[in-house]
Amino acid sequence: MNILITGIHGFVGSNLIKTLSKTHTLYGLDIVSPNKEGVKQTLSWDDLQHSEKMPTIDAIIHLAGKAHDTKNQSAAQVYFDINTGLTQRIFDYFLQSTAKKFIFFSSVKAAADFVPGDVLTEEVIPDPVGPYGESKIKAEEYIQANPSKDKQIYILRPCMIHGPGNKGNLNLLYNVVKKGMPWPLGDFENRRSFVAIDNLCAVIDGLISKEVESGIYHIADDEAMSTNELIATICEAMGRKPNIWKLNRKMMERVAKVGTTLHLPLNEERLRKLTENYVVSNAKIKKALGMEQMAITAKEGMLKTIKSFQER
Ligand SMILES: NC(=O)c1ccc[n+]([C@@H]2O[C@H](COP(=O)([O-])OP(=O)(O)OC[C@H]3O[C@@H](n4cnc5c(N)ncnc54)[C@H](OP(=O)(O)O)[C@@H]3O)[C@@H](O)[C@H]2O)c1
Repeated sequence: MNILITGIHGFVGSNLIKTLSKTHTLYGLDIVSPNKEGVKQTLSWDDLQHSEKMPTIDAIIHLAGKAHDTKNQSAAQVYFDINTGLTQRIFDYFLQSTAKKFIFFSSVKAAADFVPGDVLTEEVIPDPVGPYGESKIKAEEYIQANPSKDKQIYILRPCMIHGPGNKGNLNLLYNVVKKGMPWPLGDFENRRSFVAIDNLCAVIDGLISKEVESGIYHIADDEAMSTNELIATICEAMGRKPNIWKLNRKMMERVAKVGTTLHLPLNEERLRKLTENYVVSNAKIKKALGMEQMAITAKEGMLKTIKSFQER
């Protein structure tokens, strides 16, 4: 197949190239266009208006988006311009093109900031909080308002993706552990879902090569992990003993309350983020692809990612 991938030079795109370029011809669409191994040509967004510049495409994977702002400095409108605006632009192009498959990377954050009940499924009524999730759900709504009978359209909602080249919060946690700092929140036993890049790539490969019904699909590893397990796994990859302190939970909650009042680094919001439960079901996507289990376990994926951080 000829596959057009937007945001191809980002974290997911760079990893996806390695899987898909083995069996497909890949074209990129990005704001930067350096030559990249495995990519035949990178086009610009303006090229979409010039049909003579566009190759014949069978499938589009839309990755371009604004996600990681670990410093929280971006204005809300930027998220809507990029996450909603670019999705409308590429989806309009898809509808009038000969391409038959469209894969949009939304996020679980379009569905829920916190998980109501035990597990987040596709049945949830979306209730995003903040411009990232809100801009993604607007993009989803645009796609759903324009269905197509003879094309397959997938809205994917991955939870936190990790792998080589990852820039997000996992990196921050890795650096904290690497400095030998103790983890003081060991008394909190939460469960969180992640998705290893290998599992994500296997899902995309399946959607491209198989006949799968259009729809919304959540993407997660088979197993959820607690933050304590995550820290223990980071330490295992580094060949170290985990330094987890089980300071009294109630006391830490009181410390965070004081932190909120005094604007300290450990405040109630940060404590909630670090210790929350966020378990995502992958049952629907596995059933659709006829998979018994994901390609690798959550722990195998995490060890691979942490080892890739050490190689940098
Ligand atoms: N990583 C995760 O944990 C995660 C989880 C759920 C969903 N997702 C979604 O998955 C997609 C891929 O994520 P990622 O981690 O690969 O993100 P990433 O590394 O930030 O890559 C995003 C890509 O979008 C491009 N882009 C950013 N702003 C743009 C603009 N104004 N116009 C055109 N292109 C623009 C980036 O180009 P530059 O590199 O030049 O800025 C980059 O190529 C995103 O849509 C993200 O929201 C990611």
